[in-house]
Amino acid sequence: MAEKKIKDQALVIFGASGDLTHRKLIPAVFDLYMQKSLPDNFAVLGVARSEMTDDAFREKMKEGVIEFASMKTTDEKIINEFCSMLHYVSINTSDSADYGKLKQRLVELDEKSNVKGNYIFYLSTPPSLYPLVPSYLAEQGLNKEEDKIRRIIIEKPFGTDLQSAIDLNKKLYENYDEDQIYRIDHYLGKETVQNILVTRFANGIYEPLWNRNYIQHIEITAAESIGVENRGKYYDNSGALRDMVQNHLLQLLAVVAMEPPMSIDASAIRNEKLKVFQAIRHYSDSELITNVIRGQYTEANVKGKYKKGYRNEADVAPDSRTETYVAMKLFIDSWRWSGVPFYIRTGKRLPTRVSEVVIHFKPTPQTLFIDNPEFRNDGNQLILRIQPDEGILLKTGMKIPGTGFNVKNVNMDFHYSDLANSYIPDAYERLILDCMIGDASLYTRADALESTWGFVQPIIDFWKNNPDAPLYGYPSGSWGPDCADSLIEGKEQTWRYPCKNLSDDGIYCEL
Ligand code: NDP
Ligand code: BG6
Repeated sequence: MAEKKIKDQALVIFGASGDLTHRKLIPAVFDLYMQKSLPDNFAVLGVARSEMTDDAFREKMKEGVIEFASMKTTDEKIINEFCSMLHYVSINTSDSADYGKLKQRLVELDEKSNVKGNYIFYLSTPPSLYPLVPSYLAEQGLNKEEDKIRRIIIEKPFGTDLQSAIDLNKKLYENYDEDQIYRIDHYLGKETVQNILVTRFANGIYEPLWNRNYIQHIEITAAESIGVENRGKYYDNSGALRDMVQNHLLQLLAVVAMEPPMSIDASAIRNEKLKVFQAIRHYSDSELITNVIRGQYTEANVKGKYKKGYRNEADVAPDSRTETYVAMKLFIDSWRWSGVPFYIRTGKRLPTRVSEVVIHFKPTPQTLFIDNPEFRNDGNQLILRIQPDEGILLKTGMKIPGTGFNVKNVNMDFHYSDLANSYIPDAYERLILDCMIGDASLYTRADALESTWGFVQPIIDFWKNNPDAPLYGYPSGSWGPDCADSLIEGKEQTWRYPCKNLSDDGIYCEL
C-alpha cells in the first residue's frame, strides 16, 4: 500500500554520467521539484566511475534540465536552487571495495540534507552491473530497511532471456524482498497507458462490450520513425522482440486485456496482469512461422533524405539478422478473449512515431444501410492513442443530413491538448514519484516478468536455431514488410495506418 506522506529521502543514481540520467532522470526529478512533489528534505547523489566534482555534475545536469525537462523556466535561480540538491561521487562501481566510500558519502548527506538514511538506489548502468551493485550495497548494510526506505529501481533490460531474468531475480532476492525491488517499464508510467485502466474501469459503457462477444480483434502498435541511432552495440544483440515486445507491448496488452482488479492496490492490479501473461498461448515452431513476422529496415530516401539500411549503422554487423520490426498475431486463452486475435507490431524507421491500441468491434449483424459508398460496415473502432496527439477516438456511423438514409463513418475524438490543464507528466516523473511514495503498481513484479520472457523465449530459440527463418527487408519510411498484412484475419481487414494526428488516417503514410 502507498504511504501517505513522502518521507525525506535521497535518490542515489548509479550511471549518473550516462545518457539516461542526463536526458530523462534528472529532468523528471526537476519536474517533480517544480510541482513541489519532492519531500521536504531531499537530495540526489550521482554515482559513476568518471571523475567529477559536485559542481561539474550540477553544470551537466543543468544543461539536461534546460533541454529536456517538461516544465520550462527561464528563471536560472530556480534551476540553480534545484541543482544545489545534486551531489556526485566517483567510485569504481564494479569493485565492492569502493562501496565504503559511497556509504561515507551517504552518511555525510544524511547530516547535510537531513534525508534520514532513506535511500532509493536507481540502477541506470550497463545491465551487467544489475546483479552486482545491489549485492555490494548489501555488503555495506544499505539494503536493510528496518524503519528506513531502502529500495532499488532497475532499468531495462531485465535479463536477456528467461533464464537470465530468473537468475537476476534470484540474485536480488539474496538481499532484498520483492517489495524493495522496482523493475521499471517506462510505458507503464505513461499517463495515456494509465488512462486505459480509467477508460475501462471508470465507465460503465465499455466493460460490457470488452470481450469476445463484441470485439472482433485488437491491434497494438508502437511505431518509431528513428533508427537505432547510436545504440547499435546494444540493439544488435537485442532486436525488437527483446527491446519492445517482451516489455512495453506485452505490458500494454495486459492493461487492455486484464480483468477488473479488486482495487487499485499494487498487488490487485499486478495479480490481474499476471493472469493475462499466463493465458497467452505459446506457439510451436510451426505456428511461429505463420504468426510471427520479423523484418529489418533497408536504405531508402525518406522525406527527401537518405537513410542508411540497418546493416550499415554504426556497431551493427554487416550481415546482421537482428530484427528491427516484429508483428505477430497472438491469442489469450481465457473466457473473455477466447478466439479474439490480438495483433501487435513494433518497428524502427517506420513512417511516423505513434503508439496506440485499436479495439475493433464486430459489425452489426445486419447491414441495413446498403448502397452507401461512404460507409463501411466493418465495425466501430475505438482508438486509445498513447502518443503523440494523446487522446481517444471512436469511429462510428452517422446519417448524412438530408433525404434517405445515407450514412458515413465519422470520428468522435477527445484530445488531451483540449484540456484546460493539459500537462502530461513524463513517464519517468510519475514512476520515480511512485517509488518514493512506495507504490509499485506501475512497476513489474518478478512473476510477471518471468512470464513475459516465457512467452518470447520460444521465438528467441526458434530464430537462434533457424537462422535462415525469414527476415524480411523493408524500406526505411515504410510500414514494414508487406506480408504483415496477411496476419490479419478477415477479408479487407488491414492494420490501421495511423498518422501523427489521431484523427487523420486512411492515408498510407505521413508525408
Ligand atoms: P550510458 O552508456 O550512457 O551510461 C552508462 C552509465 O553507467 C555511465 O554513467 C557509466 O559511467 C556508468 N558505468 C558504471 N560502470 C560501468 C561499466 N563497468 N561500464 C560502462 N559504464 C559504466 O547508458 P544509458 O544512460 O543510456 O543507459 C543506462 C541503462 O539504462 C542501460 O542499462 C540502458 O539499457 C537503460 N536504458 C536506457 C535508455 C536510454 O534512453 N538511454 C532507455 C531505457 C533503458 P562511467 O563510465 O563514468 O562509470
Ligand atoms: C526503449 C527502447 O525502451 O523504448 C527504445 O529501448 C525505444 O529502443 C523506446 O526507442 C521507445 O520509447 P518511447 O517512450 O519513445 O515510445
